[in-house]
Amino acid sequence: MKINIMLVSKMDSAMKSMRSMIQDEELAVVFESSGGAIALDHIENVSPNIVVMSLTAMDMDMLSLAERVIQYRPNTFVVLLMEHLTVENMQSAMKIGAHNVIEFPQNQKEFSDYLKGVYNAETARLSMMNEKQAIVWSSQVITVYAAKGGLGKTTIATNLAVELAKKKKKVAIIDLDLQFGDVHIFMDVEPKDTIAELVQEVYTPNIDSLRSYMVMHSSGVHILCAPKSPEYAEIVHSDRVQSVLSLMRSYYDYIIVDTPSVINDITITAIEAASMVLFVAGLDISTLKNSKLSISLLESLQQKEKVRIIINRAVEINSITVDDVQRVVHAPIIAKIPSDYMVAISALNRGIPFVIGAAKSKLSLAIANIANIIETGGNARDGLPMNETKIKERKSLIKRKK
Ligand SMILES: Nc1ncnc2c1ncn2[C@@H]1O[C@H](COP(=O)(O)OP(=O)(O)OP(=O)(O)O)[C@@H](O)[C@H]1O
Ligand SMILES: [Mg+2]
Repeated sequence: MKINIMLVSKMDSAMKSMRSMIQDEELAVVFESSGGAIALDHIENVSPNIVVMSLTAMDMDMLSLAERVIQYRPNTFVVLLMEHLTVENMQSAMKIGAHNVIEFPQNQKEFSDYLKGVYNAETARLSMMNEKQAIVWSSQVITVYAAKGGLGKTTIATNLAVELAKKKKKVAIIDLDLQFGDVHIFMDVEPKDTIAELVQEVYTPNIDSLRSYMVMHSSGVHILCAPKSPEYAEIVHSDRVQSVLSLMRSYYDYIIVDTPSVINDITITAIEAASMVLFVAGLDISTLKNSKLSISLLESLQQKEKVRIIINRAVEINSITVDDVQRVVHAPIIAKIPSDYMVAISALNRGIPFVIGAAKSKLSLAIANIANIIETGGNARDGLPMNETKIKERKSLIKRKK
């Protein structure tokens, strides 16, 4: 397949010498144009791989034509041939986003090689960009929420982040419990900067500046910590949180968000930005009541579809069962985490997440299961452990069939 080239020049002599220099079996001149608005139509119709534009410096017509091709036809690569390559005309080329700019070439081979090089480099760049977009697309925000304090949100969020990092994923955790966040305690890191400094010091961060406000955990997880003091919570507004989360999606595979148990602007933002909400519940009547209220609020915010329930400290010693939770919340239960005070508390006090410090414990296995469910697309209904009612229903169905 040949590389199709369109030549654009206002001057016959320049056109002639460009034409004469493209003598290569891999290159084909498919169209010649003297520029102007009509050239855009020609580019549209001919769809060349490369448009070579010869221009004398600061030819605004040509530059604006080049700019439009760069903006609207990313599959057509623009090459600018300048009579003289000065700093000024390089600057005007850069302003319009052109980066293949050379002085009018002297010989045929040099020119053909250059055009082939541009084609290969630009094609590779395009496919890398497409891949990057796929990565962005697959990036997931996992928000951990509970309708009551102390149910294990931070325990689950931190261990899940580390577990996903163990699978060589790029993972960030953001502590949106802005007043009393303790992700840094669970992970034993000393925050130099936090989300409070970030929003005060940089208005539109890029991924590099954002990362300079994060702390790196030994597992590889990057942590954006909660403010050091509760009074700073109010300087972190939800629109800033939203842009930080979407910026993080351009880099991380998983962004785990820890939240407080209150429903405020910040938690709603974290829930709306989430691909999945891990809703932590427990087996007591007060939690059940609050969970019911929160879930119906999420339903009215049209966020219920992404809710997956995790029952923490799932010991059925009292009258509330997993079944009761299921009945009340009407959302898939994806995991039951057993109660293990010793493992949980010693991990917290040592600042070593149990998926590292007690990797074989039942708590760690439960977290590993959750990580697998998330990795396989989080289709909780597929990974849903069958509850007692379902098992009974199935048994009676089988009996009836017999
Ligand atoms: N499965 C478990 N078994 C035993 N203890 C647990 C379990 N999960 C969490 N805990 C303990 O419960 C306490 C509260 O957990 P955690 O701080 O994670 O909850 P939280 O929902 O983040 O609380 P808060 O609302 O205050 O942020 C901690 O001491 C933790 O070690
Ligand atoms: Mg917490």
